[in-house]
Amino acid sequence: MTLFDRVFNGSDAVYGLTEGAINAAIEKHGADKEVSFPNTAYSLPCYYGVTGTKVTNLGELKDALGVAKSLMTREKRLNDAFMSGVATALCAEFIEVLKYIDGAEPYSEPCYGHLADAVIRELGVPLVTGDIPGVAVILGKAPTADDAAALVKSYQAQGILVTLVGDVIDQCAEKGVNMGAGVRVIPLGKDVTAVIHVVSVAIRAALIFGNVAPGDAGALMKYTFERVPAFVNAFAPLDDVVVACGAGAIALGFPVITNETENIFRVPKSLIVQEDVSKFNATSLEARDIKIKITDINIPVAFASAFEGEIIRRKNMQVEFDGSRVDCFELVQTKDASEIEDHKIEVIGPDFDEFEFGSKHSIAYIVEVAGKSMQSDFESVFERKFHSYINCIEGVMHTGQRDMIRVRISDTAFQAGFRAKHIGEVLYAKIKNDFDAVVDKCQVKIYTDAEKVTELRHSLAIPAFNKRDDRLKSLTDESVDVYYSCILCQAFSPSHVCVVTPERLGLCGAVSWLDAKATNELEPTGPCQVITKERVIDERIGEYEDVNEAVKKFSNGALEDVSLYSIMEKPMTSCGCFECICGIEPFSNGVIIANREYAGMTPLGMTFPELASMTGGGVQTPGFMGHGKHFIASKKFMKAEGGIERIVWMPKDLKEQVAERLNATAKELYGIDNFTDMVGDETIAEDPETLLEFLTEKGHPALGMEPMM
Ligand code: SF4
Ligand code: NI
Ligand code: NI
Repeated sequence: MTLFDRVFNGSDAVYGLTEGAINAAIEKHGADKEVSFPNTAYSLPCYYGVTGTKVTNLGELKDALGVAKSLMTREKRLNDAFMSGVATALCAEFIEVLKYIDGAEPYSEPCYGHLADAVIRELGVPLVTGDIPGVAVILGKAPTADDAAALVKSYQAQGILVTLVGDVIDQCAEKGVNMGAGVRVIPLGKDVTAVIHVVSVAIRAALIFGNVAPGDAGALMKYTFERVPAFVNAFAPLDDVVVACGAGAIALGFPVITNETENIFRVPKSLIVQEDVSKFNATSLEARDIKIKITDINIPVAFASAFEGEIIRRKNMQVEFDGSRVDCFELVQTKDASEIEDHKIEVIGPDFDEFEFGSKHSIAYIVEVAGKSMQSDFESVFERKFHSYINCIEGVMHTGQRDMIRVRISDTAFQAGFRAKHIGEVLYAKIKNDFDAVVDKCQVKIYTDAEKVTELRHSLAIPAFNKRDDRLKSLTDESVDVYYSCILCQAFSPSHVCVVTPERLGLCGAVSWLDAKATNELEPTGPCQVITKERVIDERIGEYEDVNEAVKKFSNGALEDVSLYSIMEKPMTSCGCFECICGIEPFSNGVIIANREYAGMTPLGMTFPELASMTGGGVQTPGFMGHGKHFIASKKFMKAEGGIERIVWMPKDLKEQVAERLNATAKELYGIDNFTDMVGDETIAEDPETLLEFLTEKGHPALGMEPMM
């Protein structure tokens, strides 16, 4: 049997199943029954991406099946095989969506099934920074459970996001592989059709970040081929259905690596036979051109970004350092080169062995750096990285920052030999690696002596933090001479540019003006470039000739002009990975803000994913704007339209997070006390009428302002 026969057979088989399933569903629920995946603005994202049509009910799903059928041509040419593969994938999506009818939750632990739009937006930054260098799709049953676990762990150790479909899930569970989105191993489902849930991620990436028009299948495939670093590992024996799905993957640009040797032919760079499963990792990375950054760190446990989200529970906690109960802090200090012995790591106080299992203690670590280009402004930039550095250690968890940190060491890490000095090793290696352009020498002091920590916290750390806060307060858009561009997200969103100013951080929330400044210093030709702001066009909306020129240049001509402070006139574009989105609420003359974590409804009648789908891809959409959480309390937040006084609604959680700073700004700008008490949330209103009643009752200032449109 030829490969063509196998693809066509598989595709026909899936078609038959899908047709049966749709007919049965129509018989049971009627053709008007609504169908959609949950938590997405794209209904059936793959079908929508490929055809531009949003399926809303079972009757339309049946029509969609007809469209899929039309792709299943049967000439023995590669293109026919690929299109049949795509059609097979669409059928898989139809089968999967039927599982979600009536708000059903068809997947249960450990399987995820469909992934929400929010998950994809969260992946934006780590994918562009190379923190997640690739996405592996592992399908089927490995020769042994040990092979399965070893392969998954090998990718995990490289930071690669792993998705699992089929028996490999049980094999990993059997071997006790830690699974879940937090450790970047996502079991999708046991049926082969569950593979569509990762295809759906790739396709939504194109719609969300790439501004690919739904229905432009050519642009879609070009995008996934060029920008989504995914690949497939499919274990033998492959049935024809898997072969057909594999053809679909190849059509999207994802190479398939398999140990199947029967009835398969090799397509260079696309369909690769690797009989030795232990070489799947190397073969896959080579096929997809994925380079792994390695930092060699001398510690007894693994270090990888995949462990960043790992949670250590109380019962597995060897020791905990909790800054909310005892004195703890972390600090970076600039020193003179003569004061530093490079790579010296000192532990002052008892080591972990001297603490009882499960006990709580004080800890402080001070990283001292010296370098000719070092600036004290970079201290906080380095320090904020500690959270990620320490979290990447397998078996160590870190939360918080400054003197409100909490660090947990697991029993397994302790048994593997992890001790206080290894924290120093990690900090040393990462600082030297990530900031080599400015740090010539680095040493680390780790204090576990409680008295010493208390003394240093008060004499050294708190004054240093206070000094920095004063500096941050004095940093305004007016007080600096330059802003910075950030184009990191162009890897996914080719025409997007963030203009980062002291009072407006990047919309991902991860790049402040100081971060951008440090990035520029470290990598002068990198993603953050200096933008001057000498030629003002319009002070009110924050428009400058020099900023426009920069934006035009960095967007490769896609953007002509951009304002810094307006949501209606030339607003800044969004790539898609924004923390929040705000949109105008016409009844109250205000704006509502929704954050990515919020799963409910907003008074605009749209959920976060739906709102978010209206902006992104690097195009300007007046009335809607993506932004960072921190920007909400900024005096520059839509200043042109009157500022934060326009905010009429936010999810409760977000409101609590920003309350302190937002209230302070409202007091300072307008003399309003407890402004957030006037701002609605989902417990008050999810529709405009109820919201308006509430705002009227509270005398919200937006009601008296001029309409924005
Ligand atoms: Fe992307 Fe903007 Fe954040 Fe840079 S600042 S990483 S371009 S969202
Ligand atoms: Ni104290
Ligand atoms: Ni982005």
